[in-house]
Amino acid sequence: MSGRPHNRRTMMAGNWKMYKTPLETHAFFEAFKPLVAGASHCDIVICPPFPNLPAAVQETRDCQIQIGAQNLHWGREGAVTGEVSGHMLQAVGCNYVVIAHSERRQYFGETEPDVVRKTEAAIEYGLTPIVCLGERLEERESNRTEAVLAGQFDGGLAPLTPELFARIVIAYEPVWAIGTGKTATPLIAAEAHRFIRSKVSAKFGEVQAAATRILYGGSVKPDNVKTLMAEEEIDGALVGGASLDPASFAAIVKYSG
Ligand code: PGA
Repeated sequence: MSGRPHNRRTMMAGNWKMYKTPLETHAFFEAFKPLVAGASHCDIVICPPFPNLPAAVQETRDCQIQIGAQNLHWGREGAVTGEVSGHMLQAVGCNYVVIAHSERRQYFGETEPDVVRKTEAAIEYGLTPIVCLGERLEERESNRTEAVLAGQFDGGLAPLTPELFARIVIAYEPVWAIGTGKTATPLIAAEAHRFIRSKVSAKFGEVQAAATRILYGGSVKPDNVKTLMAEEEIDGALVGGASLDPASFAAIVKYSG
């Protein structure tokens, strides 16, 4: 049992970013599945690049692992070169989709209105959105963390209807901790989660705030996951680099309970 308050179920999600081919995807699951066989204390999600989604869905048909994409377009179909729709992800067998990862915000100019329409589209096509927010180093250093998180929440999540909001998972990912080896301390992460939860409470009410899952992301590794997960505020992790290796992600899953 995870022991989280309010029955929030722990989630460990791997974000593979732009790594692995379909063959490497197959090799990953061959090694990973036996390592997490029978683990039911948390939701386990893997988000590979688009071309690997069919292989990943196929590999996990017979087990508890679920598959997510890393992005989607808000339309169903259309003349939008290079984009992939929620409708397509649903057809392939995805259950989740990451939205507004900081790398998407930073390199591809994703904005809060994009978050709203992508989140709405994801839910329309039966996908659970994992919506990312988090501050950059200079924003933290100039004491603007809460203002930045508030802006991202107000622009990207507050416009959702309560029914749609109830379907999302939030990932707090301080940009300065992503891929840098600098994990936020459990206290720093928990403080940010508490602030985000207070925003949820103010907009959608206390009951929803108590039920909303907030994952932490940024250099989560097997050796720091336990202390992070000891914080009641932290409901799981969105893991980049350490999710590429079957043994390391399996260790993270194991220590999340
Ligand atoms: P990291 O990435 O674990 O490699 O820091 C996390 C993420 O970007 O989701």
